[in-house]
Amino acid sequence: MHIQTKMKKTLLSISFFLAFCLLAKAQERIPKVEELLGKMTLEEKIGQLNLLTPGGGVATGAVVSKNVEDKIKAGNVGGLFGVSGPDKIRIAQEYAVNDTRLGIPLLIGSDVIHGYKTTFPIPLGSAASWDMDMLEKSAQIAAKEATADGINWNFSPMVDIARDPRWGRIAEGAGEDPYLGSRIAEAYVKGYQGTDLTQPQTMLATVKHFALYGAAEGGRDYNSVDMSRVKMFNEYLPPYKAAVDAGVASVMSSFNDVDGVPASGNKWLLTDLLRDRWNFDGFVVSDYTSVNEMIAHGLGDLQEVSALSINAGLDMDMVGEGFLTTLKKSVEEGTVSEETITIACRRILEAKYKLGLFDDPYKYLDNKRPDADILSEENRAFAREVAKHSFVLLKKHNNVLPLKKNAKIALVGPLADSRENMLGTWAPTGDVSLAVTIKEGFKNVAPDAQVTYSKGANITNDTILAKNVNVFGERVSISKDSPDALLKSALNAANAADVVVAVIGEATEMTGEAASRTTLKIDESQKKMLRELVKTGKPVVAVLMSGRPLNISEEMDMPISILQVWHPGVEAGNAIADVLFGDYNPSGKLTVSWPRSVGQIPVYYSMKNTGRPSSQKEFEKFKSRYLDMPNSPLLPFGYGLSYTTFEYGKVTASADSMTENGSITIKTTVTNTGNYDGEEVVQLYLHDKVRSITPPMKELKGFQKISLKKGESKEVTFEITAEDLKFYNSQLDFVAEPGEFEFAVGGSSDAEMAGSFTLE
Ligand code: BGC
Repeated sequence: MHIQTKMKKTLLSISFFLAFCLLAKAQERIPKVEELLGKMTLEEKIGQLNLLTPGGGVATGAVVSKNVEDKIKAGNVGGLFGVSGPDKIRIAQEYAVNDTRLGIPLLIGSDVIHGYKTTFPIPLGSAASWDMDMLEKSAQIAAKEATADGINWNFSPMVDIARDPRWGRIAEGAGEDPYLGSRIAEAYVKGYQGTDLTQPQTMLATVKHFALYGAAEGGRDYNSVDMSRVKMFNEYLPPYKAAVDAGVASVMSSFNDVDGVPASGNKWLLTDLLRDRWNFDGFVVSDYTSVNEMIAHGLGDLQEVSALSINAGLDMDMVGEGFLTTLKKSVEEGTVSEETITIACRRILEAKYKLGLFDDPYKYLDNKRPDADILSEENRAFAREVAKHSFVLLKKHNNVLPLKKNAKIALVGPLADSRENMLGTWAPTGDVSLAVTIKEGFKNVAPDAQVTYSKGANITNDTILAKNVNVFGERVSISKDSPDALLKSALNAANAADVVVAVIGEATEMTGEAASRTTLKIDESQKKMLRELVKTGKPVVAVLMSGRPLNISEEMDMPISILQVWHPGVEAGNAIADVLFGDYNPSGKLTVSWPRSVGQIPVYYSMKNTGRPSSQKEFEKFKSRYLDMPNSPLLPFGYGLSYTTFEYGKVTASADSMTENGSITIKTTVTNTGNYDGEEVVQLYLHDKVRSITPPMKELKGFQKISLKKGESKEVTFEITAEDLKFYNSQLDFVAEPGEFEFAVGGSSDAEMAGSFTLE
C-alpha cells in the first residue's frame, strides 16, 4: 500500500516534469534555426543529414566517400570527418558557405579518442588512474588541440561497458563497471565541451556506441548482442545516460542489434529511451555505414533500412549515403514524413548553432593556433603525467622495484625499442614518429644507468611468422633474425646485467577495432624468452603492454615483478622510466577483472550469488563452480599495488539505519605503512542483501584517490543517500527498496564486508 502510494506520487511528478520539459523545449527553439528551416527544400534538409569522409585518417569500412567536393557544393553534405588543418577545412567550409544556396556551414568531425596530436594512454589505461580531474583535463587538452586544427565535433567518449577481453575494443572504454564508467563519461563530456560550446577551444562530444556494443557475443567484434532490459538498465546503460545527463551534444548508434533490431534502426532505443525517457535533445549519428549494414543484418533493402533508421530517430547517416539517395523517394511514397526529416535536420542545425558556426563558419580556422596549441611542452608533460598514473603494479617481487638509476640493466623485448607500438589503438590523429620509446625513456630519466638493449623475441608467434603471415598487420614488425639468435643475445645481455627489464605484450594492431582474440595469452615467442630470462637467476621486471586484460597466470607464478603499462601514448618511454626508477610511485588500479582463463569469461566483480553459491574452499558437487579452476578472476577489479603499503583501519557506519531522505556516513582510516610516499584509490562497495531482483554481491558506489606520505594516515569518509541504493526493478523503475545493506571499503573489489545498515 505504502509503496503503491509512493509509486503513484512518483509517476505524477514524473509526468509533470516531462510536460514541463516538453514545454521548455518548445519554447527553446532557436529562431535562427527555425527561420532557416522555413526556407529549406526537402532536398536541402536531407543534405544536412549526410556525413562524409574523403578517407583521411582511418577508414574503418570498405567504403570511402566519393566526389566529396561536388556533393558539398550541391548542398548534399551536413558534415565531414577525416580532414584536418585550417587550410584544408577552410576550402571545404567555403564550398558549403559560398557555393550552396543557403550557405550552411559544415560540422567537422574526428575520432579524437585519447588525445589529438598529444596522444594520451589508451582509454582503458587512463581509466586505471581513477583520477577524474586528470581525465577531464586530458579531454580539455584534446579539444584544444583538435579545435586548433579546425575540428569542432569529436566522436568520443566511448563508454561501452566491456566484460569480455576477447573484444579488442575493450581498449577504448573504461572497463567493466557502470558506476566508474559513468563518472568517467561525465569527465570526458565536461572536458571536451566545457561550459560554453561557442568557445573556440571546445567541441561537441559524442557518446558512443549506443548501445551495448561491448556485450558482443563471444567477444567477436560487430557480433549480435542479446540482453535483458534489467541487465541493460542496471549494468550497461548507466554510462551513456551519465553522458546525456552531462549534456553530451551527440550520440552515435552502434553496429550491433539490441533486442533483435540493429541500434541504428531501433526506435525503442533511439526515441523511447534516449529522447522520451532520458530527454536527450542533441542529434544521433550512425556509426560508419551502420545504416547500410542493416541490409546484411536482414532488415530490408537500402531504402527500407534508411526509412527505418530515420523513423527510429537517427538523424545523421555516416558515410553510407542511404539517407541521401533514398529518403526523398520514401517521402514521396509516404513511408517517411517530411516532418520527420525536418526534425532530424533541426537537430543538426541546432548543433551548428550551439557551436556558433552561423555567426562565424571559420571560427575554428585560425592559422596561428596549430603551432601555439598543438603538442606544446605543457601538453606533452601532461600526457606523461596521465601515463604514469595509468600504470598498474600487478606484482612485486623481492623489492627489485624501483630500480637504481646507476644499475646495469638488460633491457629486452620486442616492445622495448618500438616507436610504432607506443600510441596504441585508435590514435589516427597522433604521430607515431613522435613517440618516446622505452629505450629512449631510460636514457632520459636514468642517464647513468648502463643499459644494454636486445630484442630477444618476435612479438608474435614464430610459427605464424615462419609461414610469413603477419596476421596482426604492419605494426607487428617481422624480424629477419631467427628466434634463436634473438634469444641468445638477450640471454648474453641478461647474464652481464644486475637486473633484467623485459618489455612484452601486445602490439597496437593486436588490439582495438576488428581485433578480437580467442586466446589472451602473451604470444609463445615472448613467453619462451621470459622463461629463459628467469632461468638466468637475475632479478626480472616484466613491463607488460596491452590493450586488454591478458591471461598472465603463468607469469604471475614466476619470481618476477610485473608492471602493466597498456599502450601509454606519446610520452610512453619517459613515463615508464619515471615509474621504474621511482620518480613516481605507481597508483593505478584495474578497471576490469583479469581472467585466469578464456573459459571464465565473462568474469567480473559484481556477479550474483546464484541459488547454489560455492564456498570455493573445498570440492563441492552441485554448486556454481568450475571443476578445474576457481570462480574468481586472476586479478580483481580495483586491484593495483604500490611501492609502499597501505593499511586500512576499522570501517564504521555513522548509524545502523537511515530513512529515504536521510544519509549515512561510512568511514575508515588509511595509513601508509611502507617506505615510499604514495597514492591509494579507496573504494566503497555495497551489497543490497534482499531485494526484488537478484542483487550483485558487490557494487562500487564511491571512490577517492588520496595521497599519503610515508607514515601518514588519513580519514576517508563516504556519504550514502538513498540515491546510491537505487536500482532498476523489473518494471524498470529506479527505486531503493527498504532492507539491509552491507558495506566494504578497501583497495580493491576483494575488500571484505565490514558491517551493515538498514534503509527503513
Ligand atoms: C567506429 C567508430 C568511429 C567511426 C568513424 C567506426 O568504425 O566504430 O567508433 O567513430 O568508425 O571513424
